[in-house]
Amino acid sequence: MNILASLKERFVYMLVINIMLMVVTTSSAWALQCKYKTENSWSGGFVARIILTNDGPTTTQGWSVTWQQSDEAKIIQSWNAKLSRKNHYSATHTRWNRSIEAGESISFGFLGKGDDSAGTISTCTSNGEPSGHTPEEEDRPSYDNERLYTHAKFPIGIAVTADPSNDRSIYALSEKRKTIKKHFNQLTAGNIMKMSYLHPEEHQYNWDDADKLIRWAHAKKIRVHGHTLIWHSGYQVPEWMTNYSGDFEEMLNDHVRTIVRHFKRSVVSWDVVNEAIDENTNCWRNSLFYQRIGPEYIANAFQVAHDVNPKVDLYYNDYSTEDGNGAKFACLLELVDGLLADNVPIDGVGFQMHVQIDWPSASAIASAFQAIVDRGLKVKLTEIDVPLNNPWSSVPFPQYTSLTDAADERQKQRYKSIVETYLAIVPPKLRGGITIWGLWDGDSWLLELGDRQGVDDWPLLFTGPQDGPYKAKEAFYGVQEALMGADYFRQDEGL
Ligand code: G3I
Repeated sequence: MNILASLKERFVYMLVINIMLMVVTTSSAWALQCKYKTENSWSGGFVARIILTNDGPTTTQGWSVTWQQSDEAKIIQSWNAKLSRKNHYSATHTRWNRSIEAGESISFGFLGKGDDSAGTISTCTSNGEPSGHTPEEEDRPSYDNERLYTHAKFPIGIAVTADPSNDRSIYALSEKRKTIKKHFNQLTAGNIMKMSYLHPEEHQYNWDDADKLIRWAHAKKIRVHGHTLIWHSGYQVPEWMTNYSGDFEEMLNDHVRTIVRHFKRSVVSWDVVNEAIDENTNCWRNSLFYQRIGPEYIANAFQVAHDVNPKVDLYYNDYSTEDGNGAKFACLLELVDGLLADNVPIDGVGFQMHVQIDWPSASAIASAFQAIVDRGLKVKLTEIDVPLNNPWSSVPFPQYTSLTDAADERQKQRYKSIVETYLAIVPPKLRGGITIWGLWDGDSWLLELGDRQGVDDWPLLFTGPQDGPYKAKEAFYGVQEALMGADYFRQDEGL
């Protein structure tokens, strides 16, 4: 009898405790409202967002959401949250968006294959982790001894300064050489393989600087992407060419032929023509080459390069074409379709990827890559950088005056999203590789750009002292995580 009474008492006690716990959980769940919103959808894909609003009286110290997609839908990349990879999906906060103040909203997004019309929230909870706990930092395994390029089956490249007179060149800084050789297996000369460097006078080619760089790269088992055979910009066009009075078309063909022949065994791919499009002037940039030859100079260059070296990959390279909905992108397709219709030997399209932190959207980038893939051409991301400050934003410029944790994390998600989009859209055989336009933040060309009014920025993957040792930023881990995620997908899909 006594035992029974005691058991009954214990049962009632447990029941009361459980009811109290349920009240706490329900009220914290109730404080957070979550809404599923389709941002964009097209045949075969979608971009959606989940918006979390804190209706409670206190700031959240972390949150999690679970939701369901239809069986056919599959999320292939996400931003601003840590996501599980399976349906039902779940997402939790990142380090910088774990706190949602009372009355405030935040959101995270994702890109998926299939149809998301069945996207439904299942649970939505804020939790009470004590502030000061940063699980991402503690949980992340150390990748310090891993080489970035080992996570990809396509080239992972870096642009370098290799002008021997430049005190930021790779020859001047051993730490730069060390970091480059550790993490990258392709290299682009930032300057010294442009027209005026290689071909300064009509009858004079200057091979020395490029040959020296290529020797260094090959000794480290790094391959070289050539940049660039034809580019209209400023002093890149040698003065003698501007004033040339002979057969301009033959002269330009010979320029291409001679350079491709010289690097026949040492360069694996070329930006054959750089930035020939101007969407404001009927698609063709009114360059010296266009004026003297007409648009055929582009097809000529591809044909001549191919005739000299049929094995080298030949790219058309441009900027601001990553916005798959923009006028410049429409011009790019017109150019590419014209070349393909005329059987011009083009292998791929280089997207420079001098993007903003918030432009273009992941879905616009995805549709740009998709259109090139649909044409059977390779996609190469040739000059990636992601500044944190956007002079064209509606938010006053500069948006960041230092590399805060939040900025670091935001940039990581952007880099990660770019690489994930690349992996999601471009099939392995069409992946020409990805190249970052410089190693250390302070070396970026963007810091010199007039539009940026001399404000500081941190667009690349490494920070630290200017002469090294360079320190990998969150952005570096974003690229790495995306590449490692790809391994996961490959296994998952039996590829
Ligand atoms: O190396 C000399 C140095 O010795 C000298 O003291 C200094 C004085 O001005 O100039 C240095 O050369 C500069 C060079 O960059 C190396 O830093 C040139 O003046 C400068 O014009 C050059 O700018 C390059 C620009 O193209 C023009 O060629 C940038 O570094 C390079 O990042 C940029 O790259 C282009 C791509 O080729 C095509 N896509 C866009 C991208 C950004 O504009």
